[in-house]
Amino acid sequence: MKANIVLLPGDGIGPEVATAAKAALEAIAKRFGHEFTLSEALMGGAAIDATGEPLPAETLAACQKADAVFLGAVGGPKWDKAPKRPEQGLLAIRKALGLYANLRPAVTHPALYDASPLKTDRLKDVDIMVVRELTGGIYFGEKEEGTEAAWDRCAYSAKEVDRVLHKAAKLAQSRRGKVTMVDKANVLATSRLWRRRTEAVFAEHYPDIELEFMLVDAAAMHLLSRPASFDVLVTENLFGDILTDEASMLVGSMGMLPSASLGEKGPGLFEPCHGSAPDIAGQGKANPFAAMLSVSMLLELGLGLAKEAQLLKDAVFEALSANECTADLGGSLDTQGATAAVLTRIA
Ligand code: IPM
Ligand code: MG
Repeated sequence: MKANIVLLPGDGIGPEVATAAKAALEAIAKRFGHEFTLSEALMGGAAIDATGEPLPAETLAACQKADAVFLGAVGGPKWDKAPKRPEQGLLAIRKALGLYANLRPAVTHPALYDASPLKTDRLKDVDIMVVRELTGGIYFGEKEEGTEAAWDRCAYSAKEVDRVLHKAAKLAQSRRGKVTMVDKANVLATSRLWRRRTEAVFAEHYPDIELEFMLVDAAAMHLLSRPASFDVLVTENLFGDILTDEASMLVGSMGMLPSASLGEKGPGLFEPCHGSAPDIAGQGKANPFAAMLSVSMLLELGLGLAKEAQLLKDAVFEALSANECTADLGGSLDTQGATAAVLTRIA
């Protein structure tokens, strides 16, 4: 197939992991005879430095025309006091591309049990798909920032809630058939809307799905006490942000977590969950696996190439099992070496 893919390397270790992502795309294209046109565009702090804007119009236009977008990472202390922050670019692209569903799988692997701070018996058979609502809630509500007081508004419409619930339910149908909807319905009005919509949508469309409601504080606890009991976990934007960082500790390393952000139509955005890690940027220490697993999600969910996606994913886990990985996972390879360990397995 022919596909036009835009890479947004961004800041910190972003360019290093984007190089690994690019190499993975090229290797898959070669192995399967696909024609991927890869181009790069400015995003985040790098874009602020070059243009003054975290998401330049040119970058957005390139992404809108693409079949899929890969993002490395954005942000860093350099822009902490800048009038515009790199993260604004990330929020803006999510909104502009209508990427309302953020899929963050947290799957444990025996080779990583030791990397997790949790006891091994808790980690067996953990396979969670977090579906985080990504374009609504408190992230995008009105806000006011004064010196003596500040406020952020959290709002959701039934339409915004329903569409992400459908996404979660459909994913559960192709998995183990269970959805946990996480909210704070004992306190928040938006959470009560989420609960009402969940009851209505599942009763009408997904009566066969096992549905569970959980308050977010309890969910934070159960993610540690009984993580294997979750299948699909769906929740609003801010809760999803927090719970996915927590879930990364089940897997063992932020350096292993990919993500996909999808809309109704148009290109999806695929990015590792880790940040720009400015402390190790440019040193060849960055773990490229989350970026390569994000490419696997790009192939499957962005381009519909399931076989290719599986091969890449298997190659990452084979390299990991052979201890051919970076130091954060107990290996001794640098970013390039760990990338090469995956590439030789798909050549
Ligand atoms: C994430 C990040 C972003 C978020 C930041 C960088 C704005 O933490 O993708 O989880 O909060 O959504
Ligand atoms: Mg986050």
